[in-house]
Amino acid sequence: MSAEKESLELISSLDELISALKSGHYQEVLNQSNDLKISASEIEHYTTWNDSRYTRNCIARNEDFELILLCWEEGQKTAIHCHNQQECWVKVIQGNFAECFYEYDDVHNRMNPTNEGHVGQNEVTTIENSNTYHSLENIYKGRSVSLHLYMKPIVKCNVYNQTTNQLESKTLTYDTFEGEVFVKS
Ligand code: SIN
Repeated sequence: MSAEKESLELISSLDELISALKSGHYQEVLNQSNDLKISASEIEHYTTWNDSRYTRNCIARNEDFELILLCWEEGQKTAIHCHNQQECWVKVIQGNFAECFYEYDDVHNRMNPTNEGHVGQNEVTTIENSNTYHSLENIYKGRSVSLHLYMKPIVKCNVYNQTTNQLESKTLTYDTFEGEVFVKS
């Protein structure tokens, strides 16, 4: 971060969050993450829903970060996955999640759970350790919405296949990009 960068006021809207990220104030955004309040009306433009899986909606991105809104129907969950060595921050806008952390045991080819908990409305969970795997599940009685910040965009990550006990590389994609249906180029 450059020395001449001005310090950041308290972020109080999604637009302010996006411009803070675009101007490189990552540490300030992380420092404010617990206080950050993003209203349901601000994210409405980015929400999409799918009955068979959670949706990934890119709100903003450049070569340094990726801000994505995930929209979950009741019971939808991620596979056990890593974040391709990128720092990751998740803020729950609406709903409630079960989160489980794992470590991959490459001697026995299996995922060992290390910790589990809940992340509720306005709460934040982070992943800093590149070797950490986790899963998230919407356990709210209804829809949940979560905001995910990755410090460099994640194009691919490892996903654990629970049937074969193997790690597989998965290419990540979007349902929408900046509020429009995403069309792969
Ligand atoms: C995803 O980005 O699809 C997974 C959500 C996460 O663990 O951050």
